[in-house]
Amino acid sequence: MEKRGRYSVCAAHELTPGRLKLVEVNGVEIGVTRVGDRVVAYRNVCPHQGAPVCRGRVGGTTLPSAPGEYVYGKQGQVLHCPWHGWQFDLATGMALSHAQRLATVPAEVDEGMVSVYI
Ligand code: FES
Repeated sequence: MEKRGRYSVCAAHELTPGRLKLVEVNGVEIGVTRVGDRVVAYRNVCPHQGAPVCRGRVGGTTLPSAPGEYVYGKQGQVLHCPWHGWQFDLATGMALSHAQRLATVPAEVDEGMVSVYI
């Protein structure tokens, strides 16, 4: 049976914007990263078909633009699933082109340590 509670997973200085740090708590893989001054954490399961989404690359995406224009942006803010390429906004966990989202894990920083609640 999974024990629920608060788990300290790493030091805050170990997190790099644009990269997910994988941690495991009670057999659950979680990707943790820094987005601006916030720490966010998501379960390592893609809502599409279950890929280890947090192992995907973090990059940008094409932005809305006029016909014939190509505008690339949000560099370092978009997680790309390694299986089929769905893209997720790292700040919110929302898929950019589907009505689904990553499973958010509550996280916080206290005295320099990152904790998650599962
Ligand atoms: S499993 Fe992630 S996009 Fe298909």
